[in-house]
Amino acid sequence: MSVRAEFDEWATSGRDKGMEERHWHTAKHALARMPVEPGETVLDLGCGSGYAGRALRDTNDAGRLYGLDGSPEMARNAASYTDDPNVGYVVGDFDALPFADNSIDHVWSMEAFYYAADPEHTLEEIARILRPGGTFYCAVNYYEENVHSHEWQEFIEIEMTRWDRTEYREAFREAGLHVAEQDTIPDREITIPAAAEFPLEDWDTREAMVERYREFGTLLTVGVTP
Ligand SMILES: C[S@@+](CC[C@H](N)C(=O)[O-])C[C@H]1O[C@@H](n2cnc3c(N)ncnc32)[C@H](O)[C@@H]1O
Repeated sequence: MSVRAEFDEWATSGRDKGMEERHWHTAKHALARMPVEPGETVLDLGCGSGYAGRALRDTNDAGRLYGLDGSPEMARNAASYTDDPNVGYVVGDFDALPFADNSIDHVWSMEAFYYAADPEHTLEEIARILRPGGTFYCAVNYYEENVHSHEWQEFIEIEMTRWDRTEYREAFREAGLHVAEQDTIPDREITIPAAAEFPLEDWDTREAMVERYREFGTLLTVGVTP
């Protein structure tokens, strides 16, 4: 199945907002670390509902915000949630970013990068469009150390790349990005029911759920262009 077919269906069934609600638990902490200055240009890769970029407009006064998504329905939904003239959504693929060299100050991506068909090439594309000293904040919940995420591939037909922390750092460096930071951000907001309520539909044990959210959380890798 194509990215477009898969995620158009998610968008039309309202899952863009569901993701926003869940991802915000950890995304907001990563977004707060981004060194976005007033007037700078930010790109949200795989923007879904577009909440992250809009937050950067609100909190950091980013000058221009682009959200790119491979699903036209996601981009359409994102556009419908704002009337801000400095925010724009484009349909495109991680393989060929429709931006000029050295034209973007910061790139953000939450729970999207690992869908890239050729992630090494996508990193090269990001390095190409970033201005010198620009940053790429890459946040993922699907990664090798998070053993609870491994089964996700069974539920989606798009091939997902499951790197570990080291592989993320190595791939960033290979693409010409310095690794400025790597960290995991726990999700302290998701409700974890009392022990007596387990097993749940998705979780056999409370310990597994605690490990998934409170210990592993979201892996953030930050790249900086020289
Ligand atoms: C799991 S959603 C995450 C959306 C949003 N970033 C969030 O935090 O809720 C992944 C998004 O990436 C987009 N996507 C996946 N692969 C893509 C690709 N190769 N090119 C462009 N967009 C892609 C999907 O259409 C989808 O909207």
